[in-house]
Amino acid sequence: MAPVFSLLFLISTASVFSAVTARDYGFTVELIHRDSPKSPMYNSSETHFDRIVNALRRSSHRNTVVLESDTAEAPIFNNGGEYLVEISVGTPPFSIVAVADTGSDVIWTQCKPCSNCYQQNAPMFDPSKSTTYKNVACSSPVCSYSGDGSSCSDDSECLYSIAYGDDSHSQGNLAVDTVTMQSTSGRPVAFPRTVIGCGHDNAGTFNANVSGIVGLGRGPASLVTQLGPATGGKFSYCLIPIGTGSTNDSTKLNFGSNANVSGSGTVSTPIYSSAQYKTFYSLKLEAVSVGDTKFNFPEGASKLGGESNIIIDSGTTLTYLPSALLNSFGSAISQSMSLPHAQDPSEFLDYCFATTTDDYEMPPVTMHFEGADVPLQRENLFVRLSDDTICLAFGSFPDDNIFIYGNIAQSNFLVGYDIKNLAVSFQPAHCGAV
Ligand SMILES: *[C@@H]1O[C@H](CO)[C@@H](O)[C@H](O)[C@H]1NC(C)=O
Ligand SMILES: *[C@@H]1O[C@H](CO)[C@@H](O)[C@H](O)[C@H]1NC(C)=O
Ligand SMILES: *[C@@H]1O[C@H](CO)[C@@H](O)[C@H](O)[C@H]1NC(C)=O
Ligand SMILES: *[C@@H]1O[C@H](CO)[C@@H](O)[C@H](O)[C@H]1NC(C)=O
Repeated sequence: MAPVFSLLFLISTASVFSAVTARDYGFTVELIHRDSPKSPMYNSSETHFDRIVNALRRSSHRNTVVLESDTAEAPIFNNGGEYLVEISVGTPPFSIVAVADTGSDVIWTQCKPCSNCYQQNAPMFDPSKSTTYKNVACSSPVCSYSGDGSSCSDDSECLYSIAYGDDSHSQGNLAVDTVTMQSTSGRPVAFPRTVIGCGHDNAGTFNANVSGIVGLGRGPASLVTQLGPATGGKFSYCLIPIGTGSTNDSTKLNFGSNANVSGSGTVSTPIYSSAQYKTFYSLKLEAVSVGDTKFNFPEGASKLGGESNIIIDSGTTLTYLPSALLNSFGSAISQSMSLPHAQDPSEFLDYCFATTTDDYEMPPVTMHFEGADVPLQRENLFVRLSDDTICLAFGSFPDDNIFIYGNIAQSNFLVGYDIKNLAVSFQPAHCGAV
């Protein structure tokens, strides 16, 4: 596979565009699915169905992690996100491939010298080689960006510490440095003085082929929040359906004016703030309908608090609903499909049907978010688990109190986040073709 880290070394900093000086500025970077041939995590020995089953397994694990971290003040998903992004840190720009995660807040990468790092196959960032790198002092207001885990070193430098729900962790210096991204227009965009975690102690379930995490959550240290002054707090993505396998079409992550979602079919729903789950984008799903039958989201089922009841997350594959709602919804789907019932060969999913064609009939299905009716297509509802089996890509989980709108349901929609006006927009699209 092509070396993903070479490109930016070749670009002199003089040609880098500094976006903080621009207003209404927009740019687009590539979002790499972890199973795409462009991903450093790509495993060519896996079959298409292996990849789908592995994605289902990660999805259910991610939810377990959320639940287990119940008692923590700021529960955070582990690093099992589904998408990667390439960013560069420092001057000259040093490229890393990291997990892009709407369920995380901080941008961190493994840093030399490493007292305790997981194995990383790509070269590691060395802050002493960057002329723009600076540790944040304990006295700086920015030190609070590291959330509850900040502390002081002996020489008064600000230290961050992130504990993930699966016992993984990252600890090190909170620092500022230039973050550069390779825009798909060909021109790199640089964001000086971006707060990053320079991780000297990172361990747990991290993959040897990724160098850290780029948080796209709502916290002050996330990439999205930090780019806010230049991008107006807007980003969007258009996820290619999981079933389209080894396509080389790339998913785009748009910022600023490139992330405008408007025009035909666009609907918007409010983002709520959850006191306990500050990282997440919390929405209100009022009901789900199959044909003319509407099933309400049960009152009080979610513990997000306030009005919201479901998290929208690009790093979770399935959509998780309260079990009572899932059962009504699944039964209604089963009754209106003219296909024979089948068993899920992977045993993850409950509502499966036998068909060898992808051109089957299905009832109209709509997700009724507050103020936004989102009509789902086949690729949002079903995932093919074998040559003759499709399954409803919706689940529930044992404790039945955190619900997630996952990435299969979001595919072939342009999904826009506006963290200034607190809204998520959906517009039907053909992702990959746009
Ligand atoms: C990491 O990438 C190498 C090739 O650079 C590959 O051989 C290996 O299987 C990958 N490992 C994982 C865990 O994806
Ligand atoms: C790649 O996939 C094969 C087949 O599923 C599996 O046996 C192997 O362990 C995988 N390699 C890595 C590095 O994950
Ligand atoms: C994807 O790209 C790789 C390398 O650029 C190429 O070898 C492969 O044939 C492409 N696959 C498809 C389905 O276009
Ligand atoms: C996006 O919206 C902003 C504000 O409404 C506007 O200034 C900008 O021109 C729009 N950009 C595009 C590409 O439509």
